[in-house]
Amino acid sequence: MNNFIFENATKVYFGKGAVKEYLSQAAAPYGDTVLFAYGGGSIKKNGVYDTVTKVLHDSCKHIIEFPGIMPNPTYQKVKEGAALVCENNVGLILAVGGGSVMDCCKAISLAAAYKGDIWNDFWVKPGVIDFDTIPVGSIVTVTGTGSECNGGAVITNEEKNIKTGRDYPKLNPRFAILDPTYTFTVSAMQTASGGFDILSHIMETYFSEPNEDNVSDDISEALMRSVICNLRIAVREPQNYTARSNLMWDATMAENRIIKMGKRCDFECHNIEHQLGAYTNCNHGCGLAVIHPTYYRHIYREGLSKFVRFAENVWNVNAVGKSEEEIALAGIDCLAAFIKEIGLPTTLRELGIKDKKLLAAVAETCGISQGSYKLMTAKEIEEILNECY
Ligand code: NZQ
Ligand code: ZN
Repeated sequence: MNNFIFENATKVYFGKGAVKEYLSQAAAPYGDTVLFAYGGGSIKKNGVYDTVTKVLHDSCKHIIEFPGIMPNPTYQKVKEGAALVCENNVGLILAVGGGSVMDCCKAISLAAAYKGDIWNDFWVKPGVIDFDTIPVGSIVTVTGTGSECNGGAVITNEEKNIKTGRDYPKLNPRFAILDPTYTFTVSAMQTASGGFDILSHIMETYFSEPNEDNVSDDISEALMRSVICNLRIAVREPQNYTARSNLMWDATMAENRIIKMGKRCDFECHNIEHQLGAYTNCNHGCGLAVIHPTYYRHIYREGLSKFVRFAENVWNVNAVGKSEEEIALAGIDCLAAFIKEIGLPTTLRELGIKDKKLLAAVAETCGISQGSYKLMTAKEIEEILNECY
């Protein structure tokens, strides 16, 4: 294993009824005024808005609402939220939603406490947060990103056509409340998309050095098997509590830094998807689903032993009579078949991308992951995107 330091500052409250039971005590230390941030309105349809509002009122909190955080949150939206926080002396930013709401809130917490331009100083390049930020708490309503338990915030700068993320431990939510029943109303498409995002986070960690026996890879295999099994159930049975609760914890486990310990991590598919998102505003998990199998067919030879292990231990590929290369490719075929089975797009065309010409610009602006088994070039990324089309 490589050397590491592990820390995760988020306190997790997990289970049915957790918001009613714990929100009041979780929010108590953070002043009288709460910025209640949410997305496009799903929480008003499924009752989450009413529950959260009631608990906050009963706890004598003054509520400032900040609705309309969009999927792929923009830097402009971050600035609007930061202005509200400053004007109202907000003590807690409460993010109620998925990755988009949580990421936007983390960036707001930084922007409200910083005098300069956070995009230039913390997203274009890594910055140092040596000052207090506004505390963030999260209530998750859609499973996938794991943003509830890390300091990651992925923001889109629309003017510059860049979507990018950084993970600042100081931006970890102070608490995360996870009630699997809150995800019962998530559509089959978004369930599959979020579920694939979990799988992607695990694969992006698993397929990287070191390849010697290490506990992070063992945990990753167990998590991948759990995601595959429970995602199949959740897309068919949206109200299956066991499947929803497993997926919810799988998502957190994939991104709470535990499985990354001792690993290099290859986030190249995420780099490619983020730029695809910057140019097309595509759905995060759907974009990843299109890219992954093709990317893996480009790199499997450089990480052959791990792809063989993946095929056998995650997909139960029967190795008898097959060469290592055949086993590895059979594993990637299983992944591609699973993507189709759960109803996700398999080509960029299905993802709704009409203008093939923009693929060169996407490739040109992608970050290059240093943890990949095979270091990419803009030219190879463009080839991958064309093959995905
Ligand atoms: O906006 P509303 O109306 O709430 O609808 C949302 C949205 O349309 C809907 N939804 C949420 N909860 C629901 C629900 N619909 C019905 N019932 C519910 N209970 O789901 C849709 C998608 O929400 P969004 O937050 O955009 O999805 P997700 O959680 O996948 O977040 C995606 C964003 O997170 C970033 C992505 O790049 C993308 O910008 N990521 C953040 C990461 C992190 N911070 O660690 C890591 C990830 O790799 C990822 O990059
Ligand atoms: Zn992701």
